[in-house]
Formats: sequence, C-alpha cells, structure tokens
Amino acid sequence: MTSLVDPLAGIRPVEDVAGEFVNVVVDAFERRQGPRFSLVLSGGDTARSCYERLAGDAVARIDWAAVDVYLGDERWVPADHPDANQRMVREALLDRVGQVGSFRPIPTDAPLQVCAAAYQQVIAEVLAGGGLDLVHLGLGPDGHTASLFPGSDSLDAGPSELVVATRDPRGANPHPRLTLTLPAIAAARLAVFTVSGPSKREAVSRLRSAEDLPAARVRAGEVRWLIDRGAYEEAR
Ligand code: 6PG
Repeated sequence: MTSLVDPLAGIRPVEDVAGEFVNVVVDAFERRQGPRFSLVLSGGDTARSCYERLAGDAVARIDWAAVDVYLGDERWVPADHPDANQRMVREALLDRVGQVGSFRPIPTDAPLQVCAAAYQQVIAEVLAGGGLDLVHLGLGPDGHTASLFPGSDSLDAGPSELVVATRDPRGANPHPRLTLTLPAIAAARLAVFTVSGPSKREAVSRLRSAEDLPAARVRAGEVRWLIDRGAYEEAR
C-alpha cells in the first residue's frame, strides 16, 4: 500500500546531519512562542550523535533552563539499562549541558500499561499547556520511527491516544516499548527526522516510492528531513 505522496519530495541530502540538527533546534528555540521550549527526544545511534553535537556546539546558544525535555519512545527496561533511551539522553546531552528546565523520561518501573497511562497524562498536560515545540525522530531500516513499527496496531491509535505500549510485531527490534502515537506527534509544531548512513538507503528509497511506512505517516505543523548522502540514494 502506498502513502500516495513521497514525503521526501524536494528534499536534498545534507552533508552533516548532526550539524544541521543543531541548527534546526537552535532556530526553533529562538522562534519559540513562549518563555519555555518543549523538546521530545529520540533513541538510537543517530540521535546519540545529534545530542553529543548539541551538547558541544549549542551549549551557549540555548538557554537550557528554559527547555523541558521529554522522550518520544522508550524500551521497557530499567532506567540504567544499556538499551534505555533515557540513559542515552542523560549521557549524550543532559549530563553535559547543565541544568535543563525539566526532564520527564517515560517511566518503565511499573507494568507496561501503567507506564503508558502515566506518560499519556504527561503528554496530555503538555498539549493542554504550551504544546510540543519540536519532536526529534529517527528512521529504522524497516521504516519505523519512534517505536511505531510496520504492521503494529500502534499505527492505528485514535486521536485521544497519545502514548501506547507496543512491540515490534516482526521481532526485529528488542524489548516491549512505549511510544508517542502519530496523533501525539501530529500535535507538535515541528517534527525533525535525522537519517544517516547506507543502512537507511532502502528505507529512504521505499519512502521515495511513496510506500506506506510508519515514518511516511508522520504529520506535524512542519516536518523536516535531514538525510545524508549515505542514506539518500540518488535517483537512478
Ligand atoms: C529507538 C528509536 C528508533 C530509532 C531508529 C533509528 O528507540 O530505537 O526511537 O526509532 O530512532 O531505530 O535508530 P539508529 O539511528 O540507531 O539507526
């Protein structure tokens, strides 16, 4: 099934994904509507590189005390587990930029559905308040984003479902998961994808063929794609 449109139409590859990501975050911070800035972070190695660069290049370009940090998805593992996104975010960013306004990781210290309901409340309160300024997303080789996997019921979440418990039905991605849904992401002012390396070439090519991949379903006030040459297969 196709998503009818190529979400990458008109997109050109960038030389430095992490560097461009920093510029996009700083620009969004400077253009924020109110005194605070809500930033939803991703998991994955590309995200880690982006956050390390953010901590290095933008430590003085952003007033981190005004930044409220959330997670777009999490593996249902202890907070200090090597696979925990919150551990990666602490190591790559939060421990390096000093005190941020707030950090609300997705809880994983209770039954899965209890954790999902707790974070549903957190995100609902943000949307009822200042809203979500920027959601950072990665792209998996199978076209997943956040923990929205191909063939998963999580893709069919209704408009009031902001956070759900899920897993990869194809078993290619480990751990039970907690993830923001497409309606939650759609409520954000800006969604930014960072995609790097030849391992993403097939997923990018499938997106450009308008395949109905989870990442192709992402909507937001604005959706930006930062894709490097390694991932962006030039049209033959
Ligand atoms: C996760 C991420 C996931 C990730 C992509 C890309 O928890 O794993 O949220 O969506 O962003 O799988 O990850 P890489 O950058 O490591 O390829």
